[in-house]
Amino acid sequence: MQSCCRREWWKDAVLYQIYPRSFKDSDGDGIGDINGIIEKLDYFTFLGIQGLWLSPMYKSPMKDFGYDISNLTDIDPLFGNLEDFKNLLEAAHKRDLKIIMDFVPNHTSDQHPWFQKSLKREDPYTDYYVWRDGDKDKIPNNWLSVFGRTSWTWYDERKQWNYHAFIPEQPDLNYENPRVLEDMKKALAFWMDLGVDGFRYDAVVNLIEDQRFLDEPLSGDPNAKPIEHEYLRHIYTEDLPKIFTTLKEFSEVIKDFETKTGRDNLIVSEAYVTPKVSMEYYELSDIDMPYNFGLTYLNKTCDVSCYSEKIKEWMDVMSRNRWPNWVVSNHDRARISTRVGEQYIDAIHSLMLLLPGTPQFYYGDEIGMENINVTFEETQDPWGKNLGPVRYVLYSRDPNRSPMQWDASHMAGFTTANISWLPVHPDYKTRNVEVQKIRKFSHLNIFRALVWLRKYPSFRDKNLFYGPITDNIYSFGRYMPGNRGFYIILNLGHQPDTYPYDQHPKKMQDHASNVILFTGSLQDTYKVGQEIDLKDLRLNPGDGLVLTGKYNNLFPN
Ligand code: GLC
Ligand code: MG
Repeated sequence: MQSCCRREWWKDAVLYQIYPRSFKDSDGDGIGDINGIIEKLDYFTFLGIQGLWLSPMYKSPMKDFGYDISNLTDIDPLFGNLEDFKNLLEAAHKRDLKIIMDFVPNHTSDQHPWFQKSLKREDPYTDYYVWRDGDKDKIPNNWLSVFGRTSWTWYDERKQWNYHAFIPEQPDLNYENPRVLEDMKKALAFWMDLGVDGFRYDAVVNLIEDQRFLDEPLSGDPNAKPIEHEYLRHIYTEDLPKIFTTLKEFSEVIKDFETKTGRDNLIVSEAYVTPKVSMEYYELSDIDMPYNFGLTYLNKTCDVSCYSEKIKEWMDVMSRNRWPNWVVSNHDRARISTRVGEQYIDAIHSLMLLLPGTPQFYYGDEIGMENINVTFEETQDPWGKNLGPVRYVLYSRDPNRSPMQWDASHMAGFTTANISWLPVHPDYKTRNVEVQKIRKFSHLNIFRALVWLRKYPSFRDKNLFYGPITDNIYSFGRYMPGNRGFYIILNLGHQPDTYPYDQHPKKMQDHASNVILFTGSLQDTYKVGQEIDLKDLRLNPGDGLVLTGKYNNLFPN
């Protein structure tokens, strides 16, 4: 919420996504749960995190691992119960930790009572979902599910087709019916009354369907198979204008609550769209931070241009009332370590924590966790299962959802069971929180140092100064007039490279630069506080350096 005199908590926060199934199991069934999270809350104090986003823990048949909700105001027994959830809120709030809930407006589970009643044409639920007349042997149109295959399922009970943007067990809600909106608002109110601190709007691009139900055109994507979502251009099922006004109604409920209680709730939204379209979510739907997913596209072939273009593109659209954010991975994308290579992890954390705005991390990225390998037989994710034994590797999200690696003990300290819902990564004996606590320059300790660094006033605002770049080196400065400034130099490329001193900002040239933090191979070269001559600075891929000096008032213009 924008208010004249108060700074919202989330502007200074570092956010962390917990995928509850995989975080910490307290009852020995091999699946993480609420009491497991409570056990680990001190970890967030240790890391310096202020907000947790929890992927869904609502009652669910778990066909999409919680994103298929059968009761919007209850907790699934797998995770605990409402009392446990209240305890979590209380324990978190004691530590100044905020809790953000997932909110899934697009669909429910087919086991939700609304759907069960809709199936029987019981009013007022008859039109709560998207139903189409037709012939059992002829699907209404060519629309494809995001997870592959047709997005229509025939129900004999109604002798009608049902639309689902995701799997058949996730029927889409029908926002043509105003009652749906009202009922969904009630779910938001329920959790706000309980004391949650915000919501993540899930899968918002799919919220509205064009009511003419016309075939979608082919995308022409040569890599897409006919059953895959990318095969079509989604002009009738995604990004429709009514999404913005619908979401705004939800945001209004939340903002009203804020006005009443004086508490700032954070609203984030999940849409893989261009920065330009993201702006519409800020402007038209009153969302505090539409996720900036630009950096989720990073991969091993990226040189500096991938990074610099994505950063600039995003920062360029950040006008005065918009607050930036950074995400590199989540439960739907491959682990960042696996995507770009572990050696870049500290440099990427430096970007996320030292660029202007709020970063959100995916559990385990702070220790550089890697994807696991999952065979087709082991695959549980419907997205992987749908696409068959050859293509599943491209889509399954199981590899990036493996249990958190706490220590070198049995099952990485995740569970006392001998088997967990997804296997623990085999590297857990050497990669885990406990070992990295002890190692001075571990990913974990560099992460913590960066979190600590960003408390300096120069990192609080949107001030950003782009330094020179080469094919390998990216540099930027952060400043706040009258305060200590910082200059960050990272090698994000694939070759060793020398800092382009000939392009070094003139104004900064006479000033001593002291090393304050470094990563990668530079750990052997420099000491904290050491003065450094930028003329000779050479960085290997993944190396990074944070300098501070007499940069007072140097950065602007
Ligand atoms: C979002 C979630 C994803 C889920 C889908 C359907 O994209 O992030 O995990 O499968 O919505 O709810
Ligand atoms: Mg459990």
